[in-house]
Amino acid sequence: MNPIKTLLKALSFTLAAALAAGCCNSPKVTPAIEPDARVEAKVEQVLKGMTLEEKAGQLVQLSIDLVACEDRDDVDPAKMDVIFGKYKVGSILNVMHDRALDREQTAAFIRKIQESSMRNIGIPCIYGLDMIHGASYLTDGTLFPQEINLGATFNRDFAFEMGRAMAYETRAAQCPWVFSPVMDLGRDPRWPRQWESWGEDPYLQSEMARVETIAIQGSDPNHIGLENAAVSIKHFMGYGVPHTGKDRTPAYIAENDLREKYFRPFKECFQAGALTAMVNSASINGVPTHANQLLLTGWVKEQLGWDGMLVTDWADIDNLFTRDHVAADKREAVALGINAGIDMIMDPYDPECCNVIVDLVKSGDIPMARIDDAVRRVLRLKVRLGLFENPTWDYDYPEFASKDFAKKSYDAALESEVLLKNEGILPLKGTERILVTGPNANSLRTLNGGWSYTWQGNADAFVPQYNTILEALQARFPKVAYAPGVVYDNVGGNWQSEDASGIAQAVAAARGVDVIIACVGENTYCETPGNMDDLNLSANQKALVKGLAATGKPVILVLNEGRPRIIGDIEPLAKAVVDVMYPSNWGGDALAALLAGDENFSGKLPFTYPKHINSLHTYDYKVSEHREVMGGSYNYDAIMDVQWPFGFGLSYTDFAYSDFQLEGPADFKAGDDLKVSVKVTNTGSRAGKEAVLLYSSDLVASLIPDVKRLRGFEKIALEPGESKTVSFVIPALELAFVGADGKWRLEQGDFRLSCGGLGLMVRCTETKVWETPNI
Ligand code: BGC
Repeated sequence: MNPIKTLLKALSFTLAAALAAGCCNSPKVTPAIEPDARVEAKVEQVLKGMTLEEKAGQLVQLSIDLVACEDRDDVDPAKMDVIFGKYKVGSILNVMHDRALDREQTAAFIRKIQESSMRNIGIPCIYGLDMIHGASYLTDGTLFPQEINLGATFNRDFAFEMGRAMAYETRAAQCPWVFSPVMDLGRDPRWPRQWESWGEDPYLQSEMARVETIAIQGSDPNHIGLENAAVSIKHFMGYGVPHTGKDRTPAYIAENDLREKYFRPFKECFQAGALTAMVNSASINGVPTHANQLLLTGWVKEQLGWDGMLVTDWADIDNLFTRDHVAADKREAVALGINAGIDMIMDPYDPECCNVIVDLVKSGDIPMARIDDAVRRVLRLKVRLGLFENPTWDYDYPEFASKDFAKKSYDAALESEVLLKNEGILPLKGTERILVTGPNANSLRTLNGGWSYTWQGNADAFVPQYNTILEALQARFPKVAYAPGVVYDNVGGNWQSEDASGIAQAVAAARGVDVIIACVGENTYCETPGNMDDLNLSANQKALVKGLAATGKPVILVLNEGRPRIIGDIEPLAKAVVDVMYPSNWGGDALAALLAGDENFSGKLPFTYPKHINSLHTYDYKVSEHREVMGGSYNYDAIMDVQWPFGFGLSYTDFAYSDFQLEGPADFKAGDDLKVSVKVTNTGSRAGKEAVLLYSSDLVASLIPDVKRLRGFEKIALEPGESKTVSFVIPALELAFVGADGKWRLEQGDFRLSCGGLGLMVRCTETKVWETPNI
């Protein structure tokens, strides 16, 4: 038997069995995006006139490299005639390698691509770019703090502002599609992409990603305006917890966790109208995600009734045979992917992929109906974006790189930098003699992280006008000396490689000052180049901090890093610790204002900061991970000893919580809403902002419950002495979990709600189990 057909049969069987087990009794599916008759009519009209070759071409996305001129500063008309004329390719992505361009340059080459596509195929091309924290590939656009920082603000407004500015500026460059937001749960700090997500919590992630999705696309996914763009939510799904900690390696995730935690942010965004999703490069429980028909077709397209488009990640169809060995060759891999539910293949350097698709249809290995379905999804996206009427557009973008966008980015940086320790040294008086040191002190590159002008991040080369931490401190404080001690020297192309020959000089300089600000962390990285074998802060940087502390001068540790590097042995040497993560171009200025006390800290960690390499936990751990609370009959050596917990962050003022109360009865059923409120008072002498976090704990459940789960958050601002009452409405469904049988269940019994150290009990009076897998 044809091996492709055998595989197909096996997959269909798995899907049928899963559907029989889980969703046969499902009520009629409500479409995630309400279809629009005019959009659908246009799609059908275009589809009707298309040849098989044209259909195949629409399902392929290539890199800009294939249509770029030799000197890579423009597109080549002859190459475009081949790519669009011969292959009928439907999409192009990326920037020309390491050549970040400005808005005008980008717009100019995308216009030429559109003209060629219209002339050769009569169908507009869809151009896609990795805009990750603002218009990250435009040298004159606005960058925001990375998602991990916005997670630390616990302020939805910043997710909205970043999404709006990103869409606006990307559209201004004639690009209608961003590969954002990222919503891989960053639950393993070893993984080099933790900073691309909003942290470790599914609820925080869902809220921020949903808000950003709406901000990018606008409120009507059927009609995306000229100030909005289509999202590609990514990477669907479970990408953030590779078993080895290394990028693009296998994950093993229990099915209940997959559905309850990892699926949630995607589900929220699909239902908020996300038009496309990019698939996880790796695998879950042995199944490469690009071949996972159950997830791609079953969970997303069928169970959610989602009519959007699934695009692969970079060359990941090839990985099905070159890396994962679930297909013997390209033909098998393409069939496997498309039959599993892939609609567009990001095959950056292989236009022949179009011919492979044609051939697979002719041999019957991909049903024509599946091709038509995928093409409809591609065309629907283009119609929804208005590309048929306006393949290019003349429209004014007066807000491009505006002061307002810059101010939002600065404000977000202020709220995202987290004060983790302060033994009375901050805020600084301003008159101190300060030594600024460390490899991250004078680097815009590290303030921004990856996906900043270039893939691996290279802000210093493109935007020298912004202030590094050193420059910002020099501008704010009168007596600032600088001796880096350790520098990143990029030996052998390794960006993390360090030259520590300056340590003695920095230590000598420290003797003559009143306070040391040591800026340590990591150089930038993105994806696989960020893999590493030791989560500890580098030995050189630890040696620098130890040498500085030995002078007896107070050390303020500034952590500028994309993941929590372990500092358990040097943290006691510091009088204060601030984690700035990747606050972007205004992050140095924000830090200076915070250290000076011109502004107050209000960021809180969106992840658990580990203390020991063998104790990597998330805040929603199981009781048995904690020695002190586990009890039981064995002398377990479990330990939950972390450096700083999720949600931790200090302020220059104090907040008191009181009057945590229920508004309504303590007994509830599945359809009810729980309404609670809490009073928060600023009891200190400075104005401040506070992220109010509400948790629930299921005290007894049929699966070991997590100790607590975040169920609500609000950011409030309080003047000294001021009080505010914060109200939360928690649908009782939020307290449901996915049981061992894969079904959502809300169980009878007691729950504890907690907020700011206060608690109250509520009780579910009935157990309810849902047949529908994805409530
Ligand atoms: C990354 C994606 C990115 C894509 C296109 C891949 O290597 O995993 O996040 O969107 O490249 O640049």
